[in-house]
Amino acid sequence: MAVAFLSYTKYIRLLRCMQNSSILYETSKRSIMTTRPRLEKVLEDLQKNPFFDKYAQKIAKLQQTSPEEFLDRVSEKERKIKEEKGKVPAAVRPSTQSTRSFLTALWKYNHFHREICRSYSTSASEYKYVTTPIFYVNNVPHIGHLYTAALADTIARFNSMLGHKTILTTGTDEHGTKVQRAAELNKLPTKEYCDKISLSFKNMCDTFHVEYSDFIRTTEVRHREAVHHFWNRLSERGHIYSGKYSGWYCVADEAFLSDADITEKKNNKGETMKVSLESGHPVEWAEEDNFKFRLSAFQDDLKHWLKDENVVRPEKFHKMLSQWVEDGEIFKDLSISRPLSRVSWGITTPGDDSQSIYVWLDALINYLTVLGYPNENFRQFWPPSVQVIGKDILKFHGVYWPAFLIAAGLEPPKTLVCHSHWTVEGEKMSKSNTNVVSPFDAATQYSPEGVRYFLLRESVPHKDSNFSENTVQLILNADLADNLGNLVRRCTSNLINSEKEIPNPKLFADVLKSEQALKVKENLEFLKATAEKNYKSFNVHHVVDAVMTTLHSANQMFDYHKPWALRKLTSDLEAEKELKAVISLTLETVRVSALILHPVIPKLTSDLLDFLQVPQENRTWEDTSPAYLETSPSENRNYTKDCIFFEKIRDAKK
Ligand code: MSP
Repeated sequence: MAVAFLSYTKYIRLLRCMQNSSILYETSKRSIMTTRPRLEKVLEDLQKNPFFDKYAQKIAKLQQTSPEEFLDRVSEKERKIKEEKGKVPAAVRPSTQSTRSFLTALWKYNHFHREICRSYSTSASEYKYVTTPIFYVNNVPHIGHLYTAALADTIARFNSMLGHKTILTTGTDEHGTKVQRAAELNKLPTKEYCDKISLSFKNMCDTFHVEYSDFIRTTEVRHREAVHHFWNRLSERGHIYSGKYSGWYCVADEAFLSDADITEKKNNKGETMKVSLESGHPVEWAEEDNFKFRLSAFQDDLKHWLKDENVVRPEKFHKMLSQWVEDGEIFKDLSISRPLSRVSWGITTPGDDSQSIYVWLDALINYLTVLGYPNENFRQFWPPSVQVIGKDILKFHGVYWPAFLIAAGLEPPKTLVCHSHWTVEGEKMSKSNTNVVSPFDAATQYSPEGVRYFLLRESVPHKDSNFSENTVQLILNADLADNLGNLVRRCTSNLINSEKEIPNPKLFADVLKSEQALKVKENLEFLKATAEKNYKSFNVHHVVDAVMTTLHSANQMFDYHKPWALRKLTSDLEAEKELKAVISLTLETVRVSALILHPVIPKLTSDLLDFLQVPQENRTWEDTSPAYLETSPSENRNYTKDCIFFEKIRDAKK
């Protein structure tokens, strides 16, 4: 093999270049995030080597052969050459031993590189892990919580339709002083209180068809085990040390604040008190022993992680986070335990019962617990594909979380989808404003799917959205009752379709020549691509817009062809064909729309697809192409029942 016959100096240069990378000789103590850049650097260096091109093919071949196997072949060849030509001068031929170490290095490099590429690519195309934040149990659910969960569910359902093995997890965050105080206020033992509120979040998910694979509670034993294991990993890898902490502590926000983060205000007795600038909650001076995490060591890793602009979506939040990371202010070492005397409702630190683990570290690890961590199987779905979060928790998920993971030797999430908040009638939702909207109350007025539709249709991720009774009613009536609902009603009425027929779209594909019909077809043919692009960029409102536009065009086409008049021309074969073509194109538009809206309103669309007799196996993303474009025609179908898609809301407030 030619590698063995490199001139000695050139060979040494190449070897040095390989040896410069420690990853070739030792297992990395840091995660892939830090070794990957180094690995890329080595590859870059290697490619600059004048002999790289010449030997690239051979290097590639090495990927399929172990060094031992390969070297046996080299030795055998050397032996033969020796026999034939006599001794080869040492200056031009490296010894077998150094050849061996060089080749071992190359093989390790290639092998390692391949491993990483595989872990990057297969998890991207086959396994999708989507999460919601886990909800604090210090209060019952409101529509903001529902929105987070519904958005994550929509993303997960879309991925399932694409054919990915997808899981969605959610749950409740149950530790910390805030929860303990809420239990006291409610005069319940803390655990009993947690059980009750956790159940209401679970009910919320079930009522609104948030199809979770697991609902985690941080008070579960499996979670404590995962947290302890993770803590030990951080500790073994030298990222935890014990220290003292003193500073302003905000009990309500469970956070120490810097001087710059606090301000003064008067309480209702007229006394001046120090409060958090961000939340307005009171702060108190606290001094304590605790364990600290070396957050300061991770700035470069986070910069590297953020190089990919898709890591945080939408762009606004990516920029915001990148700025924090660039500024560096945020990278002060972090207290990750509290004295048990102050925070007793928590998980104690392994090996030291006098401290409880910082609630945010505890809570974030839920994303590992649900995968069975520390059991190695968790790697099947790791890293998370999409983690949905609100803007208030971007710092925790965008700085602490990736730093903890990298410190523990794990890959950080692929994408954080960060959304803005819901206001109610223009005001921030808060208990003191008494304007908190319960998802359950909203469901009584507008139905669970109606609420879900409104939240996902009205919100844009980059700015706050407003929940107003009038708008909810207007939108639901316009979109679901009038646009989609009306279309279904019109072409399934006895007057127009007494045979309850779903005419085969392929057979009537070219019958309608009107401008209106051509517009519907054009919309339908673009819908899949438009919706896919927008789902993939998490702009669900644009998906809904595109569907609504298509449905509008179908209603216009229906009006133009006046099927009720065609129906009267019973003996006219052309009229009958046109009538069937109108029904066919309308119901095809309904089928495609139902499939595309399925991730948004899963129950309503499932009912509609059942009504249209669409088999379960034909409800994938592939099936969202218009059926009249398919090569083999499907069968004519008939529906058997009537379909009431969405009842108009008359007056929601009554
Ligand atoms: N327990 C933490 C998350 C820990 S995740 C490891 C928490 N819980 S929370 O219950 O306060 O919030 C849960 C989610 O609801 C967050 O994504 C938060 O942004 C979201 N929302 C809370 N109020 C909201 C609105 N008014 N509008 C939209 N979402 C809001 O934070």
